[in-house]
Amino acid sequence: MTTIQHGLSREIDTVRREALDHLDTLRSASDATLWEGAFLGPKGQVTSLLRGLGTLPAEERPIAGRAAQQLRDELAAAFAPLRDRLETEALGLRLASEAVDVSLPGRKPTIGAAHPISTMIDELVEIFALLGFQAVFGPEVETARYNFDLLNIPAEHPARDVWDTIHVQTDGEEIVLRTHTSPMQARTMERIQPPVRVIVPGVSFRFEAQDASHEWQFTQLEGLAVDRNITMADLKGTLQEMARQLFGPERRIRFRCDYFPFVEPGVEFAVDCAICKGRGCRVCKHTGWLEMGGAGMVHPHVLRGVGYDPDEVCGFAFGLGIDRLAMMKYGVDDLRAFANNDIRFLRDFARAIG
Ligand code: PHE
Repeated sequence: MTTIQHGLSREIDTVRREALDHLDTLRSASDATLWEGAFLGPKGQVTSLLRGLGTLPAEERPIAGRAAQQLRDELAAAFAPLRDRLETEALGLRLASEAVDVSLPGRKPTIGAAHPISTMIDELVEIFALLGFQAVFGPEVETARYNFDLLNIPAEHPARDVWDTIHVQTDGEEIVLRTHTSPMQARTMERIQPPVRVIVPGVSFRFEAQDASHEWQFTQLEGLAVDRNITMADLKGTLQEMARQLFGPERRIRFRCDYFPFVEPGVEFAVDCAICKGRGCRVCKHTGWLEMGGAGMVHPHVLRGVGYDPDEVCGFAFGLGIDRLAMMKYGVDDLRAFANNDIRFLRDFARAIG
């Protein structure tokens, strides 16, 4: 045997010992992968031994080659069962940690639902459609001209103070967050000729101290009907019908005198409480009645302001608080619940009205 062969066989022995010693220490599938890379992989020690054969003289190659080949087979044979065992163990661990308990009840996906106020608006639009009213929508940021002037509330008139106005711009043209949906009265009448029958659902804004029945932002439904020979009885019949459709056939409405510059005569109207049937409860604050809004016969100044002839046509207008209607319809005693967007309230709600 030449010295080179001796050198090689010693190297083979060293690698064998190292590899086998190391094999005993493998504890996991990733240890096994490392071991395989270090000895049998393309950059492993056994592979580089085999590569080194090329540098030997031709007559020595077969013997040295066989020895190296033998080493590779021996190590591969020792490694295979160990690797299989470690991989099976690793798979077992993974399966255990990712196990799904199929006996657990499923989680229901949360399904969105319309907000109570939106539901209320939809219902009102439907009721008024049957009465011949068309729904129109207007801007929430309004000029003082539509919010006040054309509604017979001139600049220095004390009545402007009644609406606690939030101003957006005071220099030049006065721009406000609309304090009611009434500006759409003039906007609509400017666009079309009588007969007019519209409702205007939408939010309005007032600078107010908040409590259970007052909010900065609230939702109103304006109504306007202008034609020949419209009377207060039409107004009353319309609101009465709305209350019955919403709250049941036995509901009654009440008119009391009130003042709004854009109607004459003006009234406030209330519906007898659908929750306690008028006996008194938390929602109606023990009065048996729930204030719904204002109404009246359109003031001739308003008609004239939009170019109508008050000797030819007349009409009624009303503005009702949709939040108030929703309070009564759904027995909610705090208006703020509608704006808080507390998911628990909304979820109960969606469940209740299905
Ligand atoms: N716009 C009035 C308010 O919000 C309500 C109203 C509308 C009164 C129409 C009369 C006629 O206070």
